Amino acid sequence: MISRVKGTQDILPARFTAKPDAQIERWLLVERVAREAFRRYGFEEIRTPIIERTELFERGVGAETDVNKEMYTFEDRDGEMVSLRPESTAPTVRAYSEHGMFNQAGLVKLFYIGPQFRRERPQKGRYRQFWQIGVEVLGQSDEPAIEAEVIEMLYWFLMELGISDTELLINSIGDGACRPAYISALREAIRERLPNLCGSCRQRYETNPLRVLDCKVESCQVHLAELPLISDSLCDACGNHFSEFRRLLDQRGIAYKIEPRLVRGLDYYMRTAFEITGSSLGAQNTLIGGGRYDGLSEILGGQPVKGFGFASGIERLVMSVPESTINLGVNRPELFVACVGADSRDYAFGVARRLRAAGISVIVDLEGRKLKKALAVANSLDAQYSLIIGEDEIKSGSYVLRDMKTGEQTSLRESEIIDTLKYRRL
Ligand code: HAM
Repeated sequence: MISRVKGTQDILPARFTAKPDAQIERWLLVERVAREAFRRYGFEEIRTPIIERTELFERGVGAETDVNKEMYTFEDRDGEMVSLRPESTAPTVRAYSEHGMFNQAGLVKLFYIGPQFRRERPQKGRYRQFWQIGVEVLGQSDEPAIEAEVIEMLYWFLMELGISDTELLINSIGDGACRPAYISALREAIRERLPNLCGSCRQRYETNPLRVLDCKVESCQVHLAELPLISDSLCDACGNHFSEFRRLLDQRGIAYKIEPRLVRGLDYYMRTAFEITGSSLGAQNTLIGGGRYDGLSEILGGQPVKGFGFASGIERLVMSVPESTINLGVNRPELFVACVGADSRDYAFGVARRLRAAGISVIVDLEGRKLKKALAVANSLDAQYSLIIGEDEIKSGSYVLRDMKTGEQTSLRESEIIDTLKYRRL
């Protein structure tokens, strides 16, 4: 049999998989809570194409970034280079411009939920097709209140999911006024230490010295600790923005750690950069990443627009949700209808239709099994109840409702069945 592509996953009902991040019940919960968080904070959904012009990402995330190098890119039949999107900030900014959303008074607050593609080395929490939940706040304002409110929303979202073992890391990476001088100083300091640094540091020294700060190689750490920090070179505007952002987090009681070496892996960031890490995730422990990207729109040839947002990998969120928050049974059928005798089946279809109209999820045994086999199927489907309908039941108008957990059976009329199940669902 042909198998799935490396680094991709099938998301299945939990009874078919023991892998938490492949269980659809967990995904549905995370998506439902995310949508509720976004609704409460006034975000609207956007769905951009999965395929975009390669140039959008080359210019957007930066040609020398890992993300750009990991793209699935191919030449379309008309000779145009296209890529599967590795992220959704550049596409959202493109759509914002393309549809004239800048004509809107005030901020445009968008969210997305969708698959992204990066040809990375797969490992726990890292896939080649993964899903992101993300938001982008776009407009003419760069108020730090935008940052603070988005992070407040994230904390509500994480709390609802029962994810509490997290840490918020923040940094300011400066802007066009202060970063160039810092980068020259940084490059100079790295150059002096080049012989002691790893191959990837040496390459990043050439292409993107800021990313050297991000190196995780053990032997590099003592040398990296000696490099100058951007926090010491921020201009007044960036310094003030960062301290106001921190004040607004303090005001909300949100704890954070300033991580002066947090630079993020995409070129479009300026000023605020942040990540939320989760302690249950292992090596790929970044649950959420985001930041400010004023100027990205101009890089893409659009209107001047300011922006701030984040994205979170659904797989990583799903893995972090504790068992106690999850009702693995959300998808399971409430009722399995077993028919005794072929004639009762036509009748059972009518009963099933009416129960469904009352909002109950019903599976009828379409394969005409004998009662014992039918109940075994109900068991393997993890149905909460079975309804047994035979000739006697049809005559009396009461059917046997069997609790599949306890085996307890009661004879009930249709309206009583609806009441029983409705009550159970509340
Ligand atoms: P990013 O840091 O590249 O940022 O990705 C954000 C999140 O996506 C990560 O923290 C992680 O949870 C998840 N993620 C990334 N790569 C993988 C992978 N290969 N497998 C599983 N999960 C992954 C961005 O994408 C920015 N667009 C975020 C943003 C939005 N910044 C501003 N607005």
